[in-house]
Amino acid sequence: MITYSKISDTNNFVLQQRSNGKTIGFVPTMGALHDGHLELMKRAKQENDILIVSVFVNPTQFNNKQDLDKYPRDLNRDKRLLIDVGCDVLFAPTADEMYPNKVTKKYDFGSLGSVMEGGSRPGHFNGVAIVVNKLLDITNPHKAYFGEKDYQQLAIIKKLVEMESLPVQIIDCPIVREKDGLAMSSRNERLTSDERNTAPYIHQILKLAKKNSSTVCPRKLKQMVINIFKAEDEFELEYFELADDKELQPITSWDSASGIIAFIVVRLGKVRLIDNIRII
Ligand code: PAJ
Repeated sequence: MITYSKISDTNNFVLQQRSNGKTIGFVPTMGALHDGHLELMKRAKQENDILIVSVFVNPTQFNNKQDLDKYPRDLNRDKRLLIDVGCDVLFAPTADEMYPNKVTKKYDFGSLGSVMEGGSRPGHFNGVAIVVNKLLDITNPHKAYFGEKDYQQLAIIKKLVEMESLPVQIIDCPIVREKDGLAMSSRNERLTSDERNTAPYIHQILKLAKKNSSTVCPRKLKQMVINIFKAEDEFELEYFELADDKELQPITSWDSASGIIAFIVVRLGKVRLIDNIRII
């Protein structure tokens, strides 16, 4: 595996590979890799000649400096996992390399950018779009892989690709879960052992919501989930939303859209956990 920290080196490598007719699969990450990330990479490796992975904890997508400082970082461990998965190139730039000048770009993703994570974390998706646009420009992949764990991020990136007419195919990858159902996340490392034991409750409630969707209306289902979490002291429900799977707008009846997803964000101790489940 080659590791590059410079944009120009990565760009030259990509140009060379492309001129040799090789296809490039790209997986952007913020490191602290786990099996959720590795699944994306295995798929990208299978579907392309060359696998490029980026590890960059992107400051522009954190609206909270503390969250940025606390983000887990272990590049040596990440490198070992990347070698095992057959990664060809790791792109691990510094913040100065990525952002030599002040970033001022403002995207407008309309209502897709203002609901759920867009409302809870102002500026977050703008920062994600800025870095993903830049990373796609640097690595110029045929296909780029994103997880449905961050479903709204995936929808934003598809919109970005459409708005900027980027020549890349975005590939959705299913959520990878621990055996007990907890969605894998770099943030899970920050749970205490008691919190880690109770965290799978979130997925259990999502499955219960899916089951109940055949008998109760969306409004009642939402209230049911809110009441369940009110009764649990450890969990603080930030939001539970039922929304269509394209524009992610809240729905009021099960026939409002052909695809419907239940989205949840819960705080467990100091950790903010995000998950979702497809209802229809
Ligand atoms: P990060 O949180 O490191 O995630 C990198 C990719 O892995 C994202 O596409 C995310 O959805 C996917 N992923 C994480 N956990 C997953 C799981 N349990 N199952 C399936 N996929 C999972 O998302 C980011 O980084 C950043 O916002 C980034 C896109 C790199 C831009 O900075």
